[in-house]
Amino acid sequence: MEEKLKSAAIIILLLAGSVVSRAQENVVTLQPDKAKVVISKDIYGHFSEHLGHCIYEGIWVGENSTIPNTRGIRNDVVKALRNMGIPNLRWPGGCFADEYHWKNGIGPRDQRPTMINTNWGGVTEDNSFGTHEFMDLCEQLGCDPVITGNVGSGTVEEMSQWVEYLNSDNVSPMTDLRKKNGREKAWKVKYWGIGNESWGCGGAMSPEHYFDELMQFSNFCRNYNGNDLYRVGVGANVDDYNWTETLMRLWSKKSPWEQRLMNGISLHYYTVCNTWEDKGSATVFTEKDWITTLSKTIKIDELIYKHLAIMDKYDPAHKVGLSVDEWGNWFNVEPGTNPGFLYQQNSLRDAMVAGVNLNIFNSHADRIVMANIAQVINVLQSMILTQKEKIVLTPTYYVFKMYKVHQGATLIPLTVSCRDYTFDGKSVPSINVSASKDKEGRIHITLVNLDPNAANSVTLNLGITQNMNVTGEVITSKNMNDFNDFGVAAKVVPAKFDGFKLNGSQLVVNMPAKSIVSLELVIK
Ligand code: AHR
Repeated sequence: MEEKLKSAAIIILLLAGSVVSRAQENVVTLQPDKAKVVISKDIYGHFSEHLGHCIYEGIWVGENSTIPNTRGIRNDVVKALRNMGIPNLRWPGGCFADEYHWKNGIGPRDQRPTMINTNWGGVTEDNSFGTHEFMDLCEQLGCDPVITGNVGSGTVEEMSQWVEYLNSDNVSPMTDLRKKNGREKAWKVKYWGIGNESWGCGGAMSPEHYFDELMQFSNFCRNYNGNDLYRVGVGANVDDYNWTETLMRLWSKKSPWEQRLMNGISLHYYTVCNTWEDKGSATVFTEKDWITTLSKTIKIDELIYKHLAIMDKYDPAHKVGLSVDEWGNWFNVEPGTNPGFLYQQNSLRDAMVAGVNLNIFNSHADRIVMANIAQVINVLQSMILTQKEKIVLTPTYYVFKMYKVHQGATLIPLTVSCRDYTFDGKSVPSINVSASKDKEGRIHITLVNLDPNAANSVTLNLGITQNMNVTGEVITSKNMNDFNDFGVAAKVVPAKFDGFKLNGSQLVVNMPAKSIVSLELVIK
């Protein structure tokens, strides 16, 4: 059978950090003896922007709301995100970040100035959700804050003072102000973004100009009380390799002292099914849209490889990490909703996209420090949708919950040999996999069967000789565009999975069409 597989392999391509060969049968070979890289929990991060109903209504309802809340923050949302295992939350944007002036969002709420949210619908932002409310949210969620400072329309002094307000325990006008506003002890914010999309909405800058801004802003964001900031510079959009090349080249010419002003750079990549003008519907789509969405999703692997290759050229010691701090599906807004609010439903197709992306990020765990899906509630590929007091947990939510076992676990390298799924002249590998070993020695394998029509039998060579107990979960649904909606029973939810057979060190898994399967292996 091995011979047959070898001869059947037609193309060798890189996918999910492992050599994937196309074959008639699906074989995954794990190399547990080569496991050494820890998957950052922050790869499973999220993003919340002052955009549409993400913050207001999604998270913040105010203390006087009839919706159960703790200091204005929805209890149902906090509970759901905690259960899902949210490791970090990025805020306040997005494009909004480069128009945000943090001092307008502190102090008594009824005295805070308003502003126009020019990026998102031109609505009036009343600043009732600001620094203290966001830090309270992170404490309620038990997650790390990731704050993006304003480079585009802010000042160096303003950003410098925000860091001081948040992180200093010394005596100063900023720390006095924080105490006056009710917070005695400094928070410890570690992840700090120096602007957002400075090549676009964040200031339409050239990479050379942005790099100088980055150095200057970052220089005045100080480390307080032994809490070293992790400063993330604005990285490339999609395949703008020139942006990465320029930043890294300029960085490599700096002294080691200056190089610490850029610890990471970002990458933004959205899966857009059709065109930016007509992105297609989140729920009304064909098989052609299905395979287009998935093949565009897989493209992120190539983008990551290429950006990392450029980074490696200038930074062979890997001092600079990659933060994919915006990713996910971007479809047309739901009919009848504000076009500036980016509200879209979330189907089984979104679950597949989440599963594939997370497997790919895991495979680059040696270089990816963080990733943040856009966005956590009511915007783009959300975890949660809200309608007044009601909430819906989306298919994407359940994938993040299923995959949380990989957070902080050690990546197990693997090779994949699988058949193609082909439709309308397009082909993608039908199987996408990731595996890791957690601190307790349990092995978790997450597999996606991209084929919407056919079940896929996958033979896993585990490389483990001991006796094991295997349990599983699956996410699938009858139709590829099934979604969870308000007022009806959820269709796309995880279920117990026992479609596998263990024979010594080989596990044969029968994956249903269009499914995501997770397996837990416990050595007896
Ligand atoms: O997530 C929506 C927007 O997409 C963000 O504000 C921006 O950074 C990106 O262009």
